[in-house]
Amino acid sequence: MGPLGQYADAGYGYYYFPKLEGEISNHMTFRGKKCIIWSLNNYLGLANHPEVRKVDAEASERWGLGAPMGARMMSGETIYHEQLEHELAEFEKKEAAYLLNYGYMGMVSIIDSLLDRHDVVVYDSDSHACILDGLRLHMGKRFVYPHNDMESFEKQLTRAQKITDQTGGGILVITEGVYGMIGDLGNLKGILAFKEKYNFRLLVDDAHGFGTMGPTGAGTGEAQGVMDNVDVHFGTFAKAMAGIGAFVASDKAIIKTLAFKMRSQIYAKSLPMPMVIGSMKRLELLRNRPELREKLWTIVRALQAGLIEKGFDIGKTASPVTPVLLKGTPFEATQIVQDLRENFGVFCSVVIYPVVPKGVIMLRLIPTAVHTLDDVKITIDSFSAIQENLKAGKYSTGGIPDVADPF
Ligand SMILES: Cc1ncc(COP(=O)(O)O)c(C=O)c1O
Repeated sequence: MGPLGQYADAGYGYYYFPKLEGEISNHMTFRGKKCIIWSLNNYLGLANHPEVRKVDAEASERWGLGAPMGARMMSGETIYHEQLEHELAEFEKKEAAYLLNYGYMGMVSIIDSLLDRHDVVVYDSDSHACILDGLRLHMGKRFVYPHNDMESFEKQLTRAQKITDQTGGGILVITEGVYGMIGDLGNLKGILAFKEKYNFRLLVDDAHGFGTMGPTGAGTGEAQGVMDNVDVHFGTFAKAMAGIGAFVASDKAIIKTLAFKMRSQIYAKSLPMPMVIGSMKRLELLRNRPELREKLWTIVRALQAGLIEKGFDIGKTASPVTPVLLKGTPFEATQIVQDLRENFGVFCSVVIYPVVPKGVIMLRLIPTAVHTLDDVKITIDSFSAIQENLKAGKYSTGGIPDVADPF
């Protein structure tokens, strides 16, 4: 069960697989208690937006969840899938786009399809599991550089080029736009500056940046003014769009190649029609209601500035993702989370070793456009109280809630 498996029995249903009940919102119910929820990537608040709910319902009524039947290449193609792709390409200012059923599977196949054994990959050490799993399929060489370390990045590029000079292959650089765990940005501008000296293509996983970053929400490339030079841009519908599915945008030749090669798409059923129609509505709101993004950033700024003012370490975040780094043991982490949920009515995710270094407890907050400044104030006050308790050693004893284990 992996490194966290040792806590599986004690934490089941509380720390892992918790059940949040009620409408997706800033306030939901956890084990019968109302909490302020800071764990959902519902950045723009679209999950429960009345216009989105209406279109989702109408599309389900009209087409059901079964349509279209089959993979797109065989029998699952529709004008609506194509229309959504045109709209996504236009929004991302790329020649073409292609839909993916789940970002995770899509990214695995993008990497698999773009590479052959003559090619070399250079990638960031903090890459998401979908990138690492895509790389597992790669038969050629790969070189990793420490997160955002541009000196090492250049060294790895040099090594990669030596190999491609011999094999005749190409170099693919992979980074994320927003790093979803700690919220800092991939240094897209810094990476792209090396294009003057080296020949490579850049693939950006902008799962958290799509809809949240840049003046129009087009993503981290737009925020850093380098969107045109991002060769392959990936975004998911699972976060700012509060849906399911994803897309890849690039030039026509690459998108056509991907459409003919991505095994997770060719050998899987097409995205259901309500998801396609619902995604068009979400994209329309994402593009035409800048007030949603402005509200998100109002909450982000209030939360991050408030935490810093109270002396919290929120790392190098430059996005809505807000980590709060504390020092303590895994046991203390369990007690802090319990105190926050049971006594302060604040629900957030907790991350411990091996995801963060030993001795670090990371509480991760995801602000959204449906949070209020009151939510922010209550949360910052609660965090100040738990910080005091932690310093006073109050979390070194206690129990773990008893939750029925379905296994
Ligand atoms: C950086 C990153 N890439 C890809 C994904 C996968 O997206 P999806 O939920 O659409 O499979 C996620 C979602 O957790 C992510 O954070």
